[in-house]
Amino acid sequence: MSDLLGEQKRYYAERAPEYDDWWYRRGRYTREPERERRWLLDVAELEEALRIFAPSGDVLELAAGTGIWTRRLVPAAARVVAVDANAETLALNTPAAELVVADIFTWQPPQQFDVVFFSFWLSHVPEERFDEFWALVGSALRPAGRVFVIDSGPPEAAAEGELQLRQLADGREFTIVKRYWEPSELAERVADLGFELDLRLTRNGFFLHGGSV
Ligand SMILES: C[S@@+](CC[C@H](N)C(=O)[O-])C[C@H]1O[C@@H](n2cnc3c(N)ncnc32)[C@H](O)[C@@H]1O
Repeated sequence: MSDLLGEQKRYYAERAPEYDDWWYRRGRYTREPERERRWLLDVAELEEALRIFAPSGDVLELAAGTGIWTRRLVPAAARVVAVDANAETLALNTPAAELVVADIFTWQPPQQFDVVFFSFWLSHVPEERFDEFWALVGSALRPAGRVFVIDSGPPEAAAEGELQLRQLADGREFTIVKRYWEPSELAERVADLGFELDLRLTRNGFFLHGGSV
């Protein structure tokens, strides 16, 4: 398992310069216009959901990456601490956040936060680390603290198991964890761990999102 998590980390370090192409639908991620239109509508829905959630106070972002969402958190928060395992991704993040290079599976939060946020990270947490990960989230939150999650919606082709083979633009291949959650399944699972989350899919099903109720 540590090899797999190491490979996953390396994949994102190597992918850092091309990571945003996926989000902004550039190059090999370009799709037909109708699909792009639906993607953009779902992105707008996520942005609006986060705005309504109002991530104020001290915010911890886990697996912050290149900062696509860090840049949205910063204006609403008093401060944002953005943790990621890779210096390569954080080098592209915003200096408006406090950037911390650390492995989430060993890192201990030095303080508690009002909000813990993570996007496109939970699907990379393997089953055997799932409870441990949510224990970290719990330990990072103040008593009335809140969580907001963004992740992938259901895959187009049925996914088998929790492993996925990913390819970089230059053809190098990496095996990573990619686990797709149904909103109700995830809500039930985390309820057992003490988190009450209102989770849903975006209208076109590209994304899962939601926060503490
Ligand atoms: C799919 S990206 C998501 C990035 C960002 N949250 C976003 O929405 O664009 C996953 C991120 O997890 C980071 N990562 C991978 N393994 C990690 C680990 N063990 N601890 C902390 N971050 C890790 C990668 O460097 C990458 O930036």
